[in-house]
Order: sequence, then C-alpha cells, then structure tokens
Amino acid sequence: MDFESKVSDLAKGIKSSIIRELLKYASEPGFISFGGGVPDPETFPRKELAEIAREVVEKEYRFALQYGTTEGDPLLKAQYIKYLERWEGLKDLKEKNLLITVGSQQALDLIGRTFLDSESIIAISQPAYLGAVSAFKMRNPRFLTIPLSDDGMETEILEKKLRSLTAAELKKFKFVYTVPNFHNPAGVTLTLERRKHLLELAERYDFFVVEDDPYGALRFEGEHIPSVFKLGGMDRVVLLNTFSKVLSPGLRIGLVIAHESVISKLVKVKQGVDLCSPSLTQRIAARYMERYDMLERLRKTLAIYREKKDVMMKAFEEHLSDLDAHWTRPKGGLFSWVVLPEGFDTLEMLELGKEYKILWIPGAAFHVDGSGQNTMRVSFCLPSKEEIEEGVRRIRKVVEAYKSSKVISR
Ligand SMILES: Cc1ncc(COP(=O)(O)O)c(C=O)c1O
Repeated sequence: MDFESKVSDLAKGIKSSIIRELLKYASEPGFISFGGGVPDPETFPRKELAEIAREVVEKEYRFALQYGTTEGDPLLKAQYIKYLERWEGLKDLKEKNLLITVGSQQALDLIGRTFLDSESIIAISQPAYLGAVSAFKMRNPRFLTIPLSDDGMETEILEKKLRSLTAAELKKFKFVYTVPNFHNPAGVTLTLERRKHLLELAERYDFFVVEDDPYGALRFEGEHIPSVFKLGGMDRVVLLNTFSKVLSPGLRIGLVIAHESVISKLVKVKQGVDLCSPSLTQRIAARYMERYDMLERLRKTLAIYREKKDVMMKAFEEHLSDLDAHWTRPKGGLFSWVVLPEGFDTLEMLELGKEYKILWIPGAAFHVDGSGQNTMRVSFCLPSKEEIEEGVRRIRKVVEAYKSSKVISR
C-alpha cells in the first residue's frame, strides 16, 4: 500500500521539528546541551507524587481510572482557582471559567481550531514559541510578526501594523498571541506599560489576547508583574497555564482560564479530539495541590536556575563580548537568546557544534519567515554550572572555527 499517496495536504506540509531531531544528540557521552527547555528531573517531587498516585489509584479508582468530563476534574479546578487567587490575585473565578487540557500545547491547538480559518489573521512575536506556531499553522492563518525587544513584544510596532490593515482585514484579525514572562525562546518579559498598551489596542481594534504563561511562576529576580489577564479581564484575555514547568510535564496538564463562552466553545472542540484529559493525572495533581504548596517547593529549584543563569551570563561576558554579539539577561524561566553578528548561521554552525560536542537551538526555527539565521536559543536549566562554563567556551571555539571556514572578517 502506498500510504504516501493517501496523505492529506495538511500532513504533507508539516515538517519534523528540528528541536526533536537535535535533542537526539544530546544524550551522547561528552555532549553539553543548551538545547532542551525541560525541567531538571531531579526537581520533580517523585516521592510525594508516588505516594499520592498509589492512594489515588487505590482509594479513588472510581474516578481516577474512569473517563472524566471534557471540562476536567472539579477538584483540580477548585485547587487551581485558589492558587490563581493567591498567586495572581484573580478573584471571582468559577469552575466554568476553567478547562483542563492535555498540556497547554493542546490548549493552543484547541484555540486554533476554535478561532482560526484560513483567512484569519493573528499576531505573534518574532521569534515565537515553535509549538504555538505549529498549532496555529494547522489552520493556515496569516501571521503578523512583531519583533521583541528587552521589554517584550514591541506593541508600538503592533499598533503600526494594525493601523495599516484595511477594515476588511481587521474583521479577520482574531488575536495576539503572547508569552509575557521569560519568553520562549527569547527570555524577555513584557513590561507593565506594554501589557497595558496591548490591552488598549485590543479594545481599540477589537481583538483578544492569548496569554500563554508557562514560566510566570519561575521568576528568580525582580518583581512579579500582573498578568495581562489580571489587567484586562476575561472579556479580552484567554490565559493559558500549565503544570509542566512547576510540577512535572509528564502529567500533561494544562489549563485555559477564560470567559465561559470561550470555555464552552473549546469544550465542544475538545470532545472531538480526545473526549477528556486523563482523570488519573488530574486527580494526582489535585491531591498534590491540596497537600503541598507548589510554589514554596519551587523556591529551591529557582535558586539553582538563578545561579546557573548567572554562570551563563558571566561566561558570555568572558567569551562573547568582543564579538559584537548580544544576549538577553532573563529574570526567570529557562532561556537566554544570543544574537551573533550578521553572517553567522547557527543552523549551519551546528555541524561544528556536533564536532565540539555542544548543542543549541538555531534561532531560525523560531521565525515564521525563516529569518534569524544569526540567533540561537540557549537553555541553562539542565547542564551543571561547570558544563555551562565549558559549553560557552565551546560555543566560542565553534564561532572561531566557523569564522575561519567562512572567512567572516570580524
Ligand atoms: C510558551 C510555551 N507554551 C506552551 C508550552 C507547552 O507546554 P505543555 O507541556 O503544557 O504542553 C511550552 C513548552 O515548552 C512553552 O514554552
């Protein structure tokens, strides 16, 4: 059977993720990887989760081993509503304002299916989170790309681009997708002023904001900035959260927090996708939240991330500052973003990276238009401090080797 001839146009258009391809090398001996944006498995509270998992299966099997509702476990929702009140100061949230998804990746997919047609227009940052772009691309919308600065998405440029749309195009403009805290891949945070500006634009041009916030709780420096959702309310903002970076990505639990009219639409779409999110992991997470303070327990991990970030910043100063390169200095999250001088191609450089046993994610992967050749995403959360120092030293060696192979005169 020639299955190839039966494949849909949609599936034909999907390229395999470069990140997945690259991470295969990361486990080879001697390799240092700045590639993966995943938490350190040693930070997972495995003893506590194991104990709870056993109890949940034994005592709550009627719920936990059964199909659940598409909306999600009411117990988990109740716990999460308390958490959002404490952490984000969000009041008056009800069960009907929450949908539990299979990671926030599913939430992105459901949002694409629910709101986008091939004529639709949305705005995303450049660079942007690859998973969101892949999810939205399934619906084939037109992307407006908005550059990022150290203050997050440049809402002034968003305003200019919106102003240049015709009335007919504005009608098709659905939402702005933003990762406001410790952006993946760029590591930058949207300032309070820009959050407010974004909401002003949302009012003026009548669109909504998809606020994807997996990293907000991972702040290791500076003051918490109110979420766009807190500032703009559920009439303008759909907030996405996840347990992936604060507890464990293996649970595959994400949440949509939104107006009930949005939630009920997403629920209908989700029914056709997977009926419901896993009852078992939802109940484990609910019991975990009941017993433990998730954020309190994260403190130790955050102190480690901050130290590692400092080591990386110092190593960049030492090894890259004479290069006319620059990089972001994150106050939380897992990533920094390095911009090398024009002429460098971080994808091409990966061949040398493999030789020197150092890995990063080429920045072009995060650009919908394929630009950003001279950029790279580097994560500091998994390698040890020694590996971070050595890894940056290796990046410098790769830069030198690439320069001589390309005769980049800088
Ligand atoms: C910005 C952003 N959104 C969504 C996700 C997906 O997370 P989840 O594990 O909840 O599906 C990630 C994962 O890295 C992310 O960085």
